Amino acid sequence: MYRVAIDGPSGSGKSTIARELSKRLQITYVDTGAMYRAFALEANNTGKSVDELIATIDIDYHDDTVFLNGKAINQEIRSEVISKMASQISKDPKVRAFLVELQQRIAEKRSVVMEGRDITTVVLPEAEYKFFLDSDVHVRAKRRYEQLIANGESADLEQVYDNLVKRDNNDRNREHSPLTIAEDAVYIDSTLMDLETTVTTILSHIHEA
Ligand code: C5P
Repeated sequence: MYRVAIDGPSGSGKSTIARELSKRLQITYVDTGAMYRAFALEANNTGKSVDELIATIDIDYHDDTVFLNGKAINQEIRSEVISKMASQISKDPKVRAFLVELQQRIAEKRSVVMEGRDITTVVLPEAEYKFFLDSDVHVRAKRRYEQLIANGESADLEQVYDNLVKRDNNDRNREHSPLTIAEDAVYIDSTLMDLETTVTTILSHIHEA
């Protein structure tokens, strides 16, 4: 059993890369951002407080998918509204403790590729393979914009850029588990790399180790 931990800012391509890696390595893919988004979606739908949500929310993970109250969640968590809410809610240490425990439980039983903001530092600090995936903020904003358009949302590139910068600042400067580069993580800048090059770069680090 082994764990591949990947952190990085919004729009760095973590999800796409991690999903592809999990296919090639034939291990489980875990998108922890989707869990913060599921939490935000439930807060948005019910208006409940964080304490009430922690006591009642049913977040589960199987078949590489996050389930909220028994239902697989997909596109509905990808809107800009939920992105902003997830970024806010993820500052709360109670929410973090609740989701970190769930994430650690998932990785106890099987090999995983897990991606997020605090995987290499807090969730799986002992992971066998650790990566920090980064790219230029303009490239990240453009990717995020294209994703929103592909999902049928109306989006404005400048606004998407502003929101991304705000979320980055929240993630990097928050008090609890901020986004940082773990000392023993391999730093990969994918600004000038396509998906295949990034995946093979990461795979070559894993195979070398
Ligand atoms: O990765 P994604 O953009 O889907 O994550 C949504 C939000 O959840 C992020 O903006 C970040 O604030 C938060 N998050 C986090 N820790 C993680 C994963 C996501 O704080 N491990």
